[in-house]
Amino acid sequence: MLVIGNLKMYMTYEEVKTLIDNFDEDVILCPSAIFVPYFLNHKYKVGVQDISMYDLGSHTGEISAKQAKDLGVSYTIVGHSERRKYNNETNEEINKKIIKGLENNLKIILCVGENKDDDKEKVIERQLLEALKDVSNFKDLIIAYEPVWCIGTGITPTNEQIETTISFIQTTIEKNFGKSVKVLYGGSVDKDNINTLKKINNLSGFLIGKVSTDYRQLKEIVASLRD
Ligand code: PGA
Repeated sequence: MLVIGNLKMYMTYEEVKTLIDNFDEDVILCPSAIFVPYFLNHKYKVGVQDISMYDLGSHTGEISAKQAKDLGVSYTIVGHSERRKYNNETNEEINKKIIKGLENNLKIILCVGENKDDDKEKVIERQLLEALKDVSNFKDLIIAYEPVWCIGTGITPTNEQIETTISFIQTTIEKNFGKSVKVLYGGSVDKDNINTLKKINNLSGFLIGKVSTDYRQLKEIVASLRD
């Protein structure tokens, strides 16, 4: 099972050093871009939390896929719900980022998920079809199913609900692109619910936010997935 840590914008330099000094497992960690160099050359792989939809050029504050790849980054998260919400990212922009990422040999972690009152299947189908337009390389693509109402709330759906949604995601991709994909779950995953969540049949791993900043919990989660 894959474990991906989305460290978001949680950590100071001191906290980053503590994490790096105490944790070296075979996972994928996505720190703030400013800290990426500290995370390189460990057992874990490194991802960024977002990339620009542009190549190199006059885009203040942005990080391109080429720059990330040059430095030794292997993955990028794209379309996280916080970016969709606070940066008004559209599926069309997300699509451009995915294409740039794949062109530069980054592996893509595409986040999809519904708000509480959404028509879940309609929203997710649209997120997938629009974000994956003209994409043909599905072997470097991972989907993270993250219901927005579960992110940072301490709430998780039931295993049955997650399993049904994962199977909907897989069927949608098979039907429209003729490909199969790995699907992760994300949203309030912690050391206590991991033993329940890991029983989901069609699941390939987890995207973990807040808890991934806590190396003790992260170690427990990794150990529990090994059992
Ligand atoms: P959380 O976040 O684990 O803190 O709920 C998950 C995510 O946003 O990727």
